[in-house]
Amino acid sequence: MAKMIAMVVTKGGAKLQRVERDVPQPGPKELLIRIQACGVCHSDTFTVEGLWPGMVYPRVPGHEVIGVVEAIGGHVEGWKPGDRVGVGWFGGSCGHCRYCRRGEAFACENVQAVTGVTRDGGYATHMVADVSAVAHIPDDMDDVESAPLLCAGVTTFNALRHGGARTGDVVAILGVGGLGHLAVQFAARQGYRTVAVNRGRDKEKMIRSLGAHDYIDSTDGDPAEALRKLGGARVILATVTNAEAMQSVMGGLGPNGTMMIIGAVQAFPINPIEMIGKSSAVRGWYSGVATDSEDTLRFCQLHHISPMNEIYPFAEAQAAYDRMVSGKARFRVVLKMSS
Ligand SMILES: NC(=O)c1ccc[n+]([C@@H]2O[C@H](COP(=O)([O-])OP(=O)(O)OC[C@H]3O[C@@H](n4cnc5c(N)ncnc54)[C@H](OP(=O)(O)O)[C@@H]3O)[C@@H](O)[C@H]2O)c1
Ligand SMILES: [Zn+2]
Repeated sequence: MAKMIAMVVTKGGAKLQRVERDVPQPGPKELLIRIQACGVCHSDTFTVEGLWPGMVYPRVPGHEVIGVVEAIGGHVEGWKPGDRVGVGWFGGSCGHCRYCRRGEAFACENVQAVTGVTRDGGYATHMVADVSAVAHIPDDMDDVESAPLLCAGVTTFNALRHGGARTGDVVAILGVGGLGHLAVQFAARQGYRTVAVNRGRDKEKMIRSLGAHDYIDSTDGDPAEALRKLGGARVILATVTNAEAMQSVMGGLGPNGTMMIIGAVQAFPINPIEMIGKSSAVRGWYSGVATDSEDTLRFCQLHHISPMNEIYPFAEAQAAYDRMVSGKARFRVVLKMSS
């Protein structure tokens, strides 16, 4: 039996363990993927730190996967061994429940699969994925450069295109980490007046070079006031991992503005009177499904957008994860399976 290597979490808060396993067989509607690269996302903390309700261990984290199809299940159509493939947070859907039928497959009643959380993900040499979860990867896109687009990319691209802003509107990107540095590039290329909001000034130069037209240091005065001075934001894309940071910019929404919540933070108070006065909104945003990932990749190709990555060999998965958690990475950490 062929063998594979996985970096496994055995319980919440434990270090990753290198484990040798048999390479799994794909089920009827699954693909076996030989993984080439996997991004390290802040959402991997759900698995590694044991933050996901009802989490079942052992589990292999990782949901920014790029690889090559090695084998296909008996009922898989449209894929063959050798095809390049990507898998994100969305881990699959049944395709026939009421949510799937109306294009809300992420809320599928029957499968509810989350890559790297409810099924094994990409901190491994191989994985099996549900066919509904996989995206085509263009031949001329690099493995490492594409990997973060499968979560950090699709989530921010998709949230921005559903946020309601029009060309020329002020769009604020709150938090310029793994997600935020891609969001800045998308917002600028989508034609918005792009305002990056982050703590301190050490990322300012880099973020302006990625396309931000304005930069607000959230530690230097009231960031909501600074946004209001720019006319108020039509969209605030909130990618920070901290609830107070989100709360502190909400007052920077303009009329009909929407805060799109991406960062998975604790509950925080909102101000209904202020929201009524502006007809403003707060909305959560789920990453996206496989076709959204394909749209994201195409947009990146058209507009020459790519993440800035720190590359770690697969064997150093724990160091890579620790680097992501430290907040020091500029900007995405990516595991490369072989050099
Ligand atoms: N909704 C979805 O579908 C979805 C998809 C992917 C990820 N997520 C979530 O999105 C969030 C961001 O993920 P990521 O991978 O981009 O994380 P990341 O690379 O670690 O970036 C985190 C960002 O949050 C900022 N931040 C952290 N603590 C802060 C504080 N106390 N005050 C102000 N800013 C603070 C950081 O600012 P500094 O630069 O100052 O450290 C950085 O800009 C996570 O919560 C993740 O779980 C959600
Ligand atoms: Zn993610």
